[in-house]
Amino acid sequence: MDDEFAIETRDLTRTFGTCKAVDGINLCVPHGAIYGFVGPNGAGKTTTIRLLLGLLRPDSGGIFLSGQPLNQNRRELMRGIGALVETPSLYPHLTGQENLDLTRRVLGLPRSRVTDALAFTGLTADADRLVRVYSLGMRQRLGLAQAWLGKPALMLLDEPANGLDPGGIRELRSQLRQLAHDQNATIFLSSHVLSEIDQVADWIGIINHGRLFFQGRIQDLQREQGPLRLVVDKSLDAAAALTANGWQVLQQSDDFISVQVASDADVGKVNRCLQEQEIQVYRLERKEETLEDLFLRHMTN
Ligand SMILES: Nc1ncnc2c1ncn2[C@@H]1O[C@H](COP(=O)(O)OP(=O)(O)OP(=O)(O)O)[C@@H](O)[C@H]1O
Ligand SMILES: [Mg+2]
Repeated sequence: MDDEFAIETRDLTRTFGTCKAVDGINLCVPHGAIYGFVGPNGAGKTTTIRLLLGLLRPDSGGIFLSGQPLNQNRRELMRGIGALVETPSLYPHLTGQENLDLTRRVLGLPRSRVTDALAFTGLTADADRLVRVYSLGMRQRLGLAQAWLGKPALMLLDEPANGLDPGGIRELRSQLRQLAHDQNATIFLSSHVLSEIDQVADWIGIINHGRLFFQGRIQDLQREQGPLRLVVDKSLDAAAALTANGWQVLQQSDDFISVQVASDADVGKVNRCLQEQEIQVYRLERKEETLEDLFLRHMTN
């Protein structure tokens, strides 16, 4: 197994009764990446993260962290991982600082790590308040501080922006960038909101109904463009000619057609095909899709 990846899964599958929560997922998360794992509610994000942490057993498939199989080295591998899954597990009757101190002792870390983690997550002023009176966003920050305490090489964060206000989300982004950059940490974070992720992630995986629809660099997702729109004199003939030549015509009206193309080279081929049929092309345009459009297209495909 290749250890160029911080996380690699092979055909990872987990069902609950008849529900395929995770369905044959092959994740490849390079070392040092900020990997955004995006999908709507119920897509399988939390289940995947729980599998990666060994909190759930897969029905089938393999999980490799830095090339090592999780099922053989879980204890050792978990020492290098900081995680935040759904709502953080905190003691409400203890203060923020006391909560962190418990984790610190379990991990055998110096006291200064607690001070650093509180400062890093903007909680210093609230460190001595009981977690019971913390707001949702403050609990989320404390969960993040807990995950970060041991300066792990890999952080798995399930919806870390949950409950944060816009300023908090902006801060979270810059903290994650700083972690990835300064500590060369790999960060795997999930969200159901693409716009929360696309500003910070350099890799992205899109999951829906337990299946991974897209995985790659964020620029590659952006590079996938929308259909080609052509304004022509004989749209019916144009559609027939293109269909006969293997193109997928998506729309056709009196004066325009739209065609699915894969690349700019295809645009030229479509144009030539129409010229050969003596069809006049008056206009030829290809709309750039926003990430949100792409996301929705992958979701509805
Ligand atoms: N313990 C469980 N028992 C039964 N079904 C479960 C269990 N955990 C998850 N599921 C089902 O698995 C599917 C995926 O759930 P999961 O929690 O992984 O989604 P998610 O992507 O994290 O969604 P959200 O954005 O709402 O957090 C859902 O259909 C859910 O109902
Ligand atoms: Mg979830």
